[in-house]
Order: sequence, then C-alpha cells, then structure tokens
Amino acid sequence: MSKVLPDSVLRPITKEHPYKIVFVCLGNICRSPTAEGVFQHIVKEQGLSAYFEIDSSGTSAYHAGEKADSRSREAALKHGVELLSRSRKFETFDLDYFDLIIPMDSQNKRDIEYQSHKKEHKEKVILMREFDELANGDINVPDPYYGGAQGFENVYQMVKRSSEELLNQLKPFIQ
Ligand code: 4NP
Repeated sequence: MSKVLPDSVLRPITKEHPYKIVFVCLGNICRSPTAEGVFQHIVKEQGLSAYFEIDSSGTSAYHAGEKADSRSREAALKHGVELLSRSRKFETFDLDYFDLIIPMDSQNKRDIEYQSHKKEHKEKVILMREFDELANGDINVPDPYYGGAQGFENVYQMVKRSSEELLNQLKPFIQ
C-alpha cells in the first residue's frame, strides 16, 4: 500500500499557483534527475505541465553544474524520456519554497531533515518509495552510481511507478 499524502501538503493546484516538487538524492546526477525527468514526462503526457513546477537537487555539491550521468540519460532515453537537468545542491530555503520534497533514500531524508526542526518542513519530506506499490518494505531507491546498467534501469522503473502514484494522488486537487 502506498502512503497517502498528508493533508498538510495538499492544497488547490492552479496554473497561477502550480504545485512545486523537488526530488533529492546525493549527487543530483543519477536518481533525482531521473525522477525529475520522469515526473515531468508523465505530467506532459497528461497535458498538466502548467500545474506543476518540478525540480531536483542533491544533498552534496560534488557534481554541481554537471548534466545527469550518461548512464542515467541513456536508461531514460530508452523509454523516451530526455533528462535535461544540471546538478545543484539542495539548500535550506528549498524547505520553504517547495510543497513537497522527495528524497530517494533514508540518508538523503536525514540530511534534509537535519536542516530544520519545523513540523511543517518535516511533513513535506516523504521518501520516493513510499509511493511505490512494489516496494514491499524496501524504502530506498538504491544508488546506481558504482554499479552496472541494470541498476539504472531498476532506478527508472521504481521512479516511474512512484511518480505515477504520486501524480494520481495530486490530480484531484487540480482546479
Ligand atoms: P545520485 O548518485 O545520488 O543518484 O546522483 C550518485 C552520484 C555520484 C556520487 C554518489 C551518488 N558520488 O559520490 O560522486
């Protein structure tokens, strides 16, 4: 069963006030750029681009300014999704700016939560795989950086399932 979004992160979504989501991983070159690209792609397919502002970032600045890893771009492109993001570091003010902050793994989540003790911030931070119907207790999108091509395809599939569920939960709030 997927997590149901808490009331605290839900509000009417309009073109004037688009819903803002940032996906977060460590380097912002593999997992979160894939999530950004896939969510954006699904939203576009459904004609809903104007209602969302989608971004990604990393808890580290190791790869700041870089394109997504070529292996992530390849895995996404096989499914018709182009990854165009440039890596940037997650900043504390992102906790105010975004409606929803979606870390890829529990370490990313801790690194974000460490930056604020406010309840309204904590409620916005929800792990990606909470929305993956096939997670079966696995809470992390595993870091594919040091592995082979299968790891990147695996990330793509997890992120796709999770993005579809997340969008389905938000769609009823579009006005
Ligand atoms: P990501 O993968 O967090 O999914 O972007 C990584 C990319 C680079 C490194 C670690 C993870 N790194 O240590 O350079």
